Amino acid sequence: MDQAEISLSNREFSRIKTRVYAVAGIALSDAKRTLVISRLSRIVRALNLPSFDSYIDYLECNGAAVDSQDFVNALTTNLTRFYREDHHFAHLRSYIAGLIGTRPRGSRLRIWSAGCSTGQEPYTIGMDLLTAFPELKRWDFKILATDIDTAVLAKAAGGVYPASELAGLSPERLRPFTSLGDGTISVPETVRQMVSFKPLNLIGHWPMKGPFDAIFCRNVAIYFDRPTQGNVFGRFRSMLAPESFLYIGHSENLGSGGEGFRLVGRTIYQTSAISSKQVAA
Ligand SMILES: C[S@@+](CC[C@H](N)C(=O)[O-])C[C@H]1O[C@@H](n2cnc3c(N)ncnc32)[C@H](O)[C@@H]1O
Repeated sequence: MDQAEISLSNREFSRIKTRVYAVAGIALSDAKRTLVISRLSRIVRALNLPSFDSYIDYLECNGAAVDSQDFVNALTTNLTRFYREDHHFAHLRSYIAGLIGTRPRGSRLRIWSAGCSTGQEPYTIGMDLLTAFPELKRWDFKILATDIDTAVLAKAAGGVYPASELAGLSPERLRPFTSLGDGTISVPETVRQMVSFKPLNLIGHWPMKGPFDAIFCRNVAIYFDRPTQGNVFGRFRSMLAPESFLYIGHSENLGSGGEGFRLVGRTIYQTSAISSKQVAA
């Protein structure tokens, strides 16, 4: 065992699972035990606490908001990359080409990347669409990018990544990035300006009204249990415009949240032509 690691009893593990499920909807499996030990030991030591039990007591009784946030940040899984699940971007391009053909120039266009991690997903959406349709620069086009993990949001807002993250991208896809000469690259300013990064817990209150023309929520619900997944996907329905699209991760499905959606492609769902309010009425 790592010197900095503290032993974790079954009871302590169960308390940690209960807490992360209650605050973030994340259902930790028993297979995550080692990960929990390695990620939380550092925090427990930094707080000068003797055990995981005393750490959970501390969070429950007198922990500051920053400590609760550190707990959640430590237990999220943030794996992501540029152009992940490429077929979604091909579908989005053909959908947006259709909107450009039917909506007046300068129209509103809103896309939500829910569970955006370090930002590669919303930046891919922005870069891909601006490259394909430069006229979108004159639209009221904004991307909302949210995550529960404030540490990843801080990285995302910087828009700077190791150059190695671009390995394998085509010359056309590489073109918009700027090399900063120190082994890092940055996303273009025009794209950074259209993406707003905000903290948001998908199992909590959503302050925005929508409607969105597309929602990407990929590889996020995989960490939730079935009832939470159904609930979150169902809530997306009421945030989406009629005949708009929800893109989910390759191993996910809508489960009980599928009402009002139809599957139109691999992990791509479309809302019906009538609004969710009419469905609910
Ligand atoms: C594996 S990443 C997915 C990133 C990106 N969507 C992709 O597919 O590449 C999952 C993200 O979901 C976020 N997440 C987990 N639970 C969440 C919750 N309750 N509310 C909002 N975001 C959550 C995590 O912080 C993490 O950044």
